[in-house]
Amino acid sequence: MTAESTKGAVTASDEVRIFDTTLRDGEQSPGASMTLEEKLQVAEILDDMGVDIIEAGFPIASNGDFEAVCEIARRTKRSVIAGLARAIHADIDRAGEAVRHAERGRIHTFVSTSPIHLEHQMNKTQEQVLDIITDTVTRSRNLIDDVEWSAMDATRTPIDYLCQCVEAAIRAGATTINLPDTVGYATPEEYRAMFETIRNRVPDADKAIFSVHCHDDLGLAVANSLAGVAGGARQIECTINGLGERAGNAALEEIVMAVRTRADILPYTCNVDPKYLTRASKLVSAVSGFPVQYNKAIVGKNAFAHESGIHQDGMLKNAETYEIMRPEDVGVKSTSLVMGKHSGRHAFRDKLKELGYEVGDNAFQDAFRRFKELADRKKHVYDEDIEALIETEIATQGEQIKVIALTVIAGTGGPQKAILTMDIDGRHETREATGDGPVDATFNAIKDIVPHDATLSLYQVHAVTEGTDAQAEVSVRLEADGRMATGKGADTDTLVASARAYVSALNKLLARQNRPGHQELRAV
Ligand code: KIV
Ligand code: ZN
Repeated sequence: MTAESTKGAVTASDEVRIFDTTLRDGEQSPGASMTLEEKLQVAEILDDMGVDIIEAGFPIASNGDFEAVCEIARRTKRSVIAGLARAIHADIDRAGEAVRHAERGRIHTFVSTSPIHLEHQMNKTQEQVLDIITDTVTRSRNLIDDVEWSAMDATRTPIDYLCQCVEAAIRAGATTINLPDTVGYATPEEYRAMFETIRNRVPDADKAIFSVHCHDDLGLAVANSLAGVAGGARQIECTINGLGERAGNAALEEIVMAVRTRADILPYTCNVDPKYLTRASKLVSAVSGFPVQYNKAIVGKNAFAHESGIHQDGMLKNAETYEIMRPEDVGVKSTSLVMGKHSGRHAFRDKLKELGYEVGDNAFQDAFRRFKELADRKKHVYDEDIEALIETEIATQGEQIKVIALTVIAGTGGPQKAILTMDIDGRHETREATGDGPVDATFNAIKDIVPHDATLSLYQVHAVTEGTDAQAEVSVRLEADGRMATGKGADTDTLVASARAYVSALNKLLARQNRPGHQELRAV
């Protein structure tokens, strides 16, 4: 049968489910891991924006991951909560245990199907993998009605064998069939044809929803996802900001806005409210520590900025000359002046609410204190400043180590010197250190107070707003024993922001030392 003759026509009202895996595939990407509090914040916004399925984590990976999936399952109001499981009974049982707290839970189990994975990773024959599929999907279905099965490395699997695998999974009760482009190798035409062929050939294919899951190694993840939908898939797996393994996953915001903006040729509906996209992007960037590139589609700082004279002229005459989406559609607010140093708690809480943040009492008090300090030092406080401040607050809640005070002596004379005071579990320690430049001196002082072997693999600074009194937002990534952690810090003083970012990354590394097995599981 050819790929062209498709079973089941795509109708104008076809609904595409959005399956967000920021908290699983996204969080698995080196350096992006999140604390429980951060995961809860992300899950809340995903639920609010109308994501159909939230993959909340990999429950067998660690107790922390298990607890996070349980807690997200308990709190989520609308979305289905999925937990990932390898094709291993213990994984499936643990995922079942975690998602049973949800109003609607899902077990997502997967196994590799490509020859290269079977031979080199699994050491199994095709027949053995078919038996594993039947066994593990059946076990999952005995625990829960909503079971997703994924063929890892589907796009490098011979189509005849892939058909047999999908048939086995559907026969055993899988309700969603995901065919991932695990290594980001497919082209849109191939990916679409794969779905068409499978849906045509596999008996009872219409009993399952087909799903796309694309990685962005060749920059084709979104194009491939949409091609898979044209081939009959009705679930798209994606992440906020395209966070994910290696080059990442398909970006949720790009998928949602493509479907919405090109409804003329993409006749699908999806439940996500695009007004949440900007806020979700900022939150995920803050908690993962992965900055969003300026020219990133939809959520980049420049996504709606028009610099050239010709464009600006056209925009002034009619915005549609150069704008295919309106910034307000994705929740971008024009930069606005907010409160000054005389603004009170009430106004500050209202502002946080308007920006979409609801924080607990302790975090609010800390954020308010930092806002007052900022308003003392900075002439104009913009929404972006408040966002940077509150996101740092969220990212640093409950940290074991904190920066209390920093004085740096810098200049041409060298060596530069930092005098740093930190709070370690309530105990204050002050040290002086020199370095090759003020940042180096500051980081050396941190190392003196908290000796560690981590190496610095990323140090990045950007200005939150315009002007010389703008806050600096610093990202720092540390690596130790094969683990990575990224931290962010914001302050009008770049060195204070650098110290906060470093200490935030260090806190995450320390917290992760209690997550046995995380590294091994990251290999999936
Ligand atoms: O990329 C992939 O194949 C995956 C599976 C676990 C679904 O993330
Ligand atoms: Zn993946």
